[in-house]
Amino acid sequence: MPALVADAVGRPEPRVEGRLKVTGTAPYAYEVPAADPVFLHLVTSTVAKGRITRIDTDATQAIDGVVAVVDHTNAPTLSADGDPELRALQSDRVAFRGQVVAVVLAETPDAAREGARVVEVTYAEEPHLADLRADGPELYKPDSMPTVRQGDLDGAMATAAVTVDEVYSTPLEHASPMEPHAVTARWTEAGSDGVVLTLDASTQSAHGTARAIATLFGLDPDQVRVRSPYVGGGFGSKGMPHVHDAVAAIAARVVPGRAVKLAMTRQQMFALAGYRAPTIQRFRLAADADGRLLGIGHDVIAQSSTVKEYGEAAAGVTGHLYAAPSRTSGYRLAALDVAVPTWMRAPGEMPGMFAHEVAMDELAAACGVDPIALRVRNEPETDPVSGKPFANRRLLECLRAGAQRFGWSGRDPRPGTRLDGDWLVGTGVAASSFPYLRFPGNRARVRADGEGRFTVQIGAADIGTGAVTVLRQIAADALERPTAAVAVEIGDSSLPSATVAGGSSGTASWGSAVVAAARRFREEHGDAPRPGVLSEAETNADEAAQRYVMYSFGAQFAEVRVNVWTGEVRAARLFGMFSSGRIINPRTARSQYIGGMTMGLGSALLEGGVIDPRFGHVVTQDLASYHVPSHADLPRIEAEWLDEVDELANPMGARGVGEIGIVGVAAAVANAAWHATGMRVRSLPLTTEQFVDLPGDLPALAGHPAAYA
Ligand code: MOS
Repeated sequence: MPALVADAVGRPEPRVEGRLKVTGTAPYAYEVPAADPVFLHLVTSTVAKGRITRIDTDATQAIDGVVAVVDHTNAPTLSADGDPELRALQSDRVAFRGQVVAVVLAETPDAAREGARVVEVTYAEEPHLADLRADGPELYKPDSMPTVRQGDLDGAMATAAVTVDEVYSTPLEHASPMEPHAVTARWTEAGSDGVVLTLDASTQSAHGTARAIATLFGLDPDQVRVRSPYVGGGFGSKGMPHVHDAVAAIAARVVPGRAVKLAMTRQQMFALAGYRAPTIQRFRLAADADGRLLGIGHDVIAQSSTVKEYGEAAAGVTGHLYAAPSRTSGYRLAALDVAVPTWMRAPGEMPGMFAHEVAMDELAAACGVDPIALRVRNEPETDPVSGKPFANRRLLECLRAGAQRFGWSGRDPRPGTRLDGDWLVGTGVAASSFPYLRFPGNRARVRADGEGRFTVQIGAADIGTGAVTVLRQIAADALERPTAAVAVEIGDSSLPSATVAGGSSGTASWGSAVVAAARRFREEHGDAPRPGVLSEAETNADEAAQRYVMYSFGAQFAEVRVNVWTGEVRAARLFGMFSSGRIINPRTARSQYIGGMTMGLGSALLEGGVIDPRFGHVVTQDLASYHVPSHADLPRIEAEWLDEVDELANPMGARGVGEIGIVGVAAAVANAAWHATGMRVRSLPLTTEQFVDLPGDLPALAGHPAAYA
């Protein structure tokens, strides 16, 4: 497709739905009006593994307003083809602590909650395994994850002038969107559209959720309608349906015609909404004395679950960042008796880049080479694994332009040389990257509404990203009309089919369909269309992606301060320079970048989920013990981008902005903390305890009382 005219595109338009959201009038999934709703509350297991021997609901049934209790003894049988995570209430087996074992329906939320509290479940407990260990006998090599073997890494490690061989670990992380995972479900007689089950769901994919729930109930996807016009954050955790969607649909069968409302409690979200899988990563680098890489090795161990396999693709970054004649990467997973992990903003890339870019910083220090010069020295000409050319690889420009904007030059490479009052100060850098994804099979419709107005429809999702605003800009340019003349409808599986708001693919995937539909519309109906006429178009597979290796790149810079007395670690400044193709909307794109960087700072300094292996439950199951960055935690965070149009990507010339902002931040912060203190921390998050015992010989501490403390 030819390039798009860029008139609306490139402008910092405010969010179309901003006013509705800030005035509290945008109806979210739990809030959609229903005449006679029934409320649902979950009963969750208190053991990590075993069998349910008895469920006593007498006390529950006695509560005023309780309508029904559904458990494995009376739930409908779901299709064996259904997603195992969604096949709830099908047997007496308990596979993790916090699993849904029953649900209580009641006329009020309070009666449902109290009813759930007094359900008495008896278990025959079995021994469980809930801690991820590097030496566990349960580790296996998953068929679903790629292995890379190029050259002789062991030989390179044995003979190289300089090597790094360390283990890096990352914890469970929880997406913790502001809007909990919530759904309103209702069964009805089939109307003219054939729909029998409607879900108002908080999801990143209306069509994906409709398909998954339809499969579960043996229905045709068209018989399930999912609406999700407003989603209060997802970060991947709403990328696929979770068990709440399934149990709401199960429970709603008890009260046909009535809407059943369910919102996970914040505590339940820590087990049932998915989480970023913890990893243990062995990372190896072999280099000559000048830091030229001879080999890269990345062996990832990640947590999975017995219910469903989930592979945290942390070694994806290792294949394309740097040139090296030998390279190995692979995975082992542990299927533990724990809740099911899922996508979380830059799944794979975020933990993987932490290991990769801290290891590179260690190599830079070992070789005495500036961290940016080291990366320049190892820039590959073509994609190291596939040999294909890169399209618009601009990592070095990000590093160089970022270094200038951040103020990198003149940096003393030695750690522990800057003191400001009682704070040691250091700076660090890390590369960032995220694949360019454009999914085929997206469909859009354009309709003339008369008086020069148009409606564009596509079942996309705006999870707070600005997608609907950006799609309107794209549509306006494709129709060559002002944005005010275009309305965009999204978030409904009855609209033309769209792929998930995931993989930073939305703008590219849906935008391409919108451009195709607008162009077809103009071909079919000209520039003075009769009201009511419409056109549709669907996108096919991305040809450029066959010929080129396509990524967005970035450079993350951090300034970190560590208190010499307490070890408190604070980021003072984050700066990111990104290359994501054309920026459709600078306002919403900046928000995505700095949002990602904020989340990266959470990973770096604050967010660490803890499972107690004795009981298998997530101990940190509230926002006090699992602390996400608040305003008081945030330093100056700035993001800029290279001015570019990616002609190979799509008519908009845009790649993605949703996830790259988080990638590399934790490494940049850890590298800056090392530069401040000389202490190399290889596990996330960085905590105060790790910096209490500072090395006594830091140049900045000569003569300082803290050096003798
Ligand atoms: Mo994102 S974690 O690809 O929804």
